Amino acid sequence: MKIKNICCLGAGYVGGPTMSVIALKCPEIKVTVVDLNESRIAAWNNGDLDKLPVYEPGLAEVVEEARGRNLFFSTEVDSAIEAADMIFIAVNTPTKNYGEGKGMAADLKFVELCARQIARIAKNDKIIVEKSTLPVRTAETLQTILDHTGNGVKFEVLSNPEFLAEGTAINDLLHADRVLIGGKQTESGQKAIQALVDVYAHWLSPKQILTTNVWSSELSKLTANAFLAQRISSINALSALCEATEADVDEVATAIGTDSRIGPKFLKASVGFGGSCFQKDILNLVYLCRYFNLPEVANYWEQIIILNDYQKYRFAKKIISSLFNTVSGKKITFLGWAFKKDTNDTRESAAIYVAEHLIEDGAEIHVYDPKVSEEKIKADMSYLWELKGFTEQKIESKLKQIFVYNSAEDALHQAHAVAVLTEWDEFKTYNWNSIFINMYKPAFIFDGRNILDAEELTAIGFQVKGIGKGYIPQLKREPVF
Ligand code: NAD
Ligand code: UDX
Repeated sequence: MKIKNICCLGAGYVGGPTMSVIALKCPEIKVTVVDLNESRIAAWNNGDLDKLPVYEPGLAEVVEEARGRNLFFSTEVDSAIEAADMIFIAVNTPTKNYGEGKGMAADLKFVELCARQIARIAKNDKIIVEKSTLPVRTAETLQTILDHTGNGVKFEVLSNPEFLAEGTAINDLLHADRVLIGGKQTESGQKAIQALVDVYAHWLSPKQILTTNVWSSELSKLTANAFLAQRISSINALSALCEATEADVDEVATAIGTDSRIGPKFLKASVGFGGSCFQKDILNLVYLCRYFNLPEVANYWEQIIILNDYQKYRFAKKIISSLFNTVSGKKITFLGWAFKKDTNDTRESAAIYVAEHLIEDGAEIHVYDPKVSEEKIKADMSYLWELKGFTEQKIESKLKQIFVYNSAEDALHQAHAVAVLTEWDEFKTYNWNSIFINMYKPAFIFDGRNILDAEELTAIGFQVKGIGKGYIPQLKREPVF
């Protein structure tokens, strides 16, 4: 079966870039990305490519080439579903914040709504592709919903999880380590798998395309994220030990990462991992393990999250203790708010939680991020406080402790301390001499990403505290928590 018309439900960080690349590489396939969010679709259609809703290096060029040719963004969900031979579901699957499984399980209501809508609209056979990250055996639920329409349409459900990382999405899509396609072992299942293999084969070699059964594919996505996050929590755990023992975590990471069995990637100690995926997917994995009565397995994976929370808290605490045990009324400048460089995404960013601790201690947080707006930063904090049950009045008053700038220079002027929360390259190029002159003394830098040259900054006069760098005397007196 040759696919001629693809529809994708969800024009977010996954649906947008993924479909743009498919459209770029498969000019004979019409690709329509639909979303319920009108402003998001309007932004995807914006003539000014700087205003696309997702910032990703290389994305604007891909959209420019394919948009209007065979790539379309629309809010006309029903007609796009009707016309498609293959429908990708790339909607959000956040952690449930209500009811059964609150705080742990994935909220599948958006996925279920998609299935019901497809079932209602479809008039001919279709291949449904799970692109969202889903708990293992969700395909069974989708199939059940789809098969109960009574209009005789046949649906084949495939699992095709997405492995792109934000900030490198276009490169990850064009040069994927692998794509994974799970489908049924039946004849029609195998045909559906082949149809999707043929799409990716436009630009990937056969050995990059792995095919498995549906459940292996669904579970592999959660597991891949858990393994990646586990490496970060492992090195972050060691960063605390490095600070206590005067070892250097970057040296340790290099020493262990050169063992070819371990490998060098994902061993960068940090203020803690963020992003929309790691925490959500591990919580979901833990929930599944508990559901299947495997408490030891659940506890093992849960420790990754516990350690990550500890790392964010430890960073905030280090700032407070270094600034003579209080940051009340002090200006702390955050360089970066996004959860990593080269993205405007702030979901679960460590900056949010570090800011919360410092604001609790009375700090004024002054933020500069090259891609994140004031509106977004304040919305992130408001959301966190809403979840904590704070009143509107209390949230309003706490928001007064946050100041957002369009220039790093303004954000840094007369600060007591600088905290690097995101590893944006431009932070390395600043004139730190003149920043030092304009700061209160002693001038502190807390480098949550170990990107700045500590020796050079120390020579200027800064008190520099990195992650996992053994020259932090205060920590030796800190209780272990
Ligand atoms: P997102 O929130 O950026 O985008 C999801 C979009 O789906 C939203 O714009 C929302 O309006 C839309 N939507 C919701 N219900 C809809 C419906 N019924 N019809 C049409 N549109 C609908 O989310 P995302 O980051 O793109 O993630 C999507 C999925 O991909 C999640 O399951 C996530 O875990 C997974 N994933 C994300 C990444 C990543 O880096 N962000 C990587 C791999 C996998
Ligand atoms: C992740 C997975 O990498 C990707 O395969 C999956 O599809 C979605 O989830 P993403 O969250 O976009 O991608 O970015 P990633 O590069 O994995 O970084 C996640 C977080 O970990 C960021 O906050 C990053 O700064 C942090 N990180 C990453 C570290 O602290 N140290 C590292 O060595 C690597």
